[in-house]
Amino acid sequence: MDYSEKVMDHFTNPRNVGEIPNCSACGTVGNAVCGDIMRIYLDIDDDGVIRDAKFKTFGCGAAIATSSMATTLIKGKTIQQALEVTNKAVMEALDGLPPVKVHCSLLAEEGIHAALWDYAEKKGIKIEGLEKPVSDISEKEHAHNVEIVDDPEDL
Ligand code: FES
Repeated sequence: MDYSEKVMDHFTNPRNVGEIPNCSACGTVGNAVCGDIMRIYLDIDDDGVIRDAKFKTFGCGAAIATSSMATTLIKGKTIQQALEVTNKAVMEALDGLPPVKVHCSLLAEEGIHAALWDYAEKKGIKIEGLEKPVSDISEKEHAHNVEIVDDPEDL
């Protein structure tokens, strides 16, 4: 399978891997077909600007590359701007993905939405244009204690 240089770069040298202790929000999404899981952590300031974003992904190389790029793209952005970081925007920033890997970029978009959904719930606010992703497994994950590996290189 042909991957762009950018995909390979973000896969072999992923940015923003890890957790944010005491984060403002975190969301976990999973793809039921391939079984891959992605968790996104956000640190959002009082003005609604995303100060920091990190991720842990138990998944394929494209899922790791897209979470790396997605977290890079939303850092420093407002919540509304982060909603514009769609899977298409992530794919474009990575110079494309093979068609069979498009669903991996969707996981990144949904991971951001799941984390923002968590933020809205914690704050008791409604974020215009945001819907809870169907792949959101945050609650299930807490109930079953799903383990996510720290280092994608362990995969
Ligand atoms: Fe499932 Fe990539 S194969 S996220």
